[in-house]
Amino acid sequence: MKNLVPLILLVAIVISCNSKKTLQSYSQLDTTYISRGNVIAKLSFETLSGELQKALQNGGIDSALRYCNLRAYPITDSLSLVHQASIKRVSTKVRNPRNKADELATFMAKGFGIDVSEGKAITPKLVLKDDSVLFFKPIITQPLCLTCHGTPGKEVSFSTDSTIQKLYARDKAVGYKNNEVRGLWRIAFKIN
Ligand code: HEC
Repeated sequence: MKNLVPLILLVAIVISCNSKKTLQSYSQLDTTYISRGNVIAKLSFETLSGELQKALQNGGIDSALRYCNLRAYPITDSLSLVHQASIKRVSTKVRNPRNKADELATFMAKGFGIDVSEGKAITPKLVLKDDSVLFFKPIITQPLCLTCHGTPGKEVSFSTDSTIQKLYARDKAVGYKNNEVRGLWRIAFKIN
């Protein structure tokens, strides 16, 4: 884990521009990737939660669960195409095993978890890994999320819990409270 720490000291990238090699200042590049990441994370969150709200209104929690089960990936995949970046939601306690955080994302999630629990301001983080700049930002729970990610028998009704169990036999994404880190946006920008 120690060897991950230097990665977080941000990104130096040499970019080629009109055949002249230019070294942009770290802070300029950081600002560019942070603002692109913020825009994409906001839009992705709004798209997913907008679709979720529609599904809830049309058919209640059960149908919204089935909707997320079928549609969450196609939605983030199509946003990835539009924004030319790989957009993922990852977590240390997953519903869909495809969203499991790797070692680096787990490390990030712990850091963000401490910041949120101490009431600190949330600042997204960049990490340079192989040929990509990775952007990480926490996804924080709100009261609505607890209908499907709260405590079974409390915010999560027994019938919702049983649908979750049917769709995701190994679900771990319950037991959350309001204003906790449910997961992270992990947005990868390829460096040309
Ligand atoms: C109607 C039920 C429902 C509600 C409400 C809901 N989710 Fe989820 N959530 C799901 C389902 C189902 C999945 C798994 C989607 C998949 O298979 O890709 C999921 C997955 C996720 C993931 C990806 C990690 C994982 O566990 O697989 C995150 C992060 C997440 N939800 C955050 C939230 C947040 C934040 C809110 C509130 C704004 C919220 N969810 C509200 C049902 C819900």
